[in-house]
Amino acid sequence: MENFLQLKNVSKTFGEVSALHDVNFEVGTNEIVGLLGDNGAGKSTMVKIMTGYHRPDAGGEIHIKGRRVPHLTVPEARKQGIEIVYQERALADKQSLWRNIFLGRELSNSWGMLDVKKMREETLNLMHTAMGFTSSAITPDSIIKTFSGGERQGVAITRALYFKAELIMLDEPTMGLSLSETNKVIDFVHRIKAEGKSCIFIDHNIFHVYPVCDRIVVLDRGTIAGQYLKNELTLEELIERLYLVAHTGSLRKGAAKEENEAPKAAGDAAKKGGDR
Ligand SMILES: Nc1ncnc2c1ncn2[C@@H]1O[C@H](COP(=O)(O)OP(=O)(O)OP(=O)(O)O)[C@@H](O)[C@H]1O
Ligand SMILES: [Mg+2]
Repeated sequence: MENFLQLKNVSKTFGEVSALHDVNFEVGTNEIVGLLGDNGAGKSTMVKIMTGYHRPDAGGEIHIKGRRVPHLTVPEARKQGIEIVYQERALADKQSLWRNIFLGRELSNSWGMLDVKKMREETLNLMHTAMGFTSSAITPDSIIKTFSGGERQGVAITRALYFKAELIMLDEPTMGLSLSETNKVIDFVHRIKAEGKSCIFIDHNIFHVYPVCDRIVVLDRGTIAGQYLKNELTLEELIERLYLVAHTGSLRKGAAKEENEAPKAAGDAAKKGGDR
């Protein structure tokens, strides 16, 4: 699978805190990567580096579509098709659905005026085709404040796809959602895959992550503790590995360094883990 984005030897320190240490990570084109790890493992820091929000420490490199980007900024990341969806901050609560879809990227007509009619029509179309909103109570003019958590995630992900995002990062998108709402979010991850795009899916619950991912990456205290291609590992085996990581910081006792190798060896890492 061709790389869409790659981190090479990325570290990030905040004062005394080492949030990431020598991380090598990649996400392929049309690949869904599940990022797992305990609180404080460095997951959010990692995605923030990939969106240009944080700069890695000196020596770390970010490559997008095979090209090194020395100073990735938020606008540059967006231009490259990298979008992040946060649960809380994703949408403007007091605005309508159609305004939220086009926020900051409004359509205008040939007179240079806002094309409200077109934006409403497009939103209605997206509601039926992409968002799967079946409730007749929701219209393009509905105010976001009344939307459920799952619906909000759906709007944010649909918006990213509509504007041709290539890589969508979801940082704990199911937090605080009910089971059925969570399932909706997972459906959206399937949609990202079906549309040929890539996704990094962060969630504490492996039962959410495992079914939709092509590859699972486990972060432990700022380092990559292991990576597995999904088809090389059952859910039960993954649970067993995570248990081990949580207790030893490694996939095998005394093998922490060995497992923290370049991500191109994702399959090898999984195999290594297999003969423990
Ligand atoms: N802006 C910051 N300033 C100082 N320390 C930070 C900052 N951001 C993160 N950290 C620290 O870096 C470490 C990794 O944090 P991060 O938020 O990346 O973890 P996480 O894996 O996303 O955790 P969680 O599952 O709780 O969201 C933590 O020790 C955190 O306190
Ligand atoms: Mg986090």
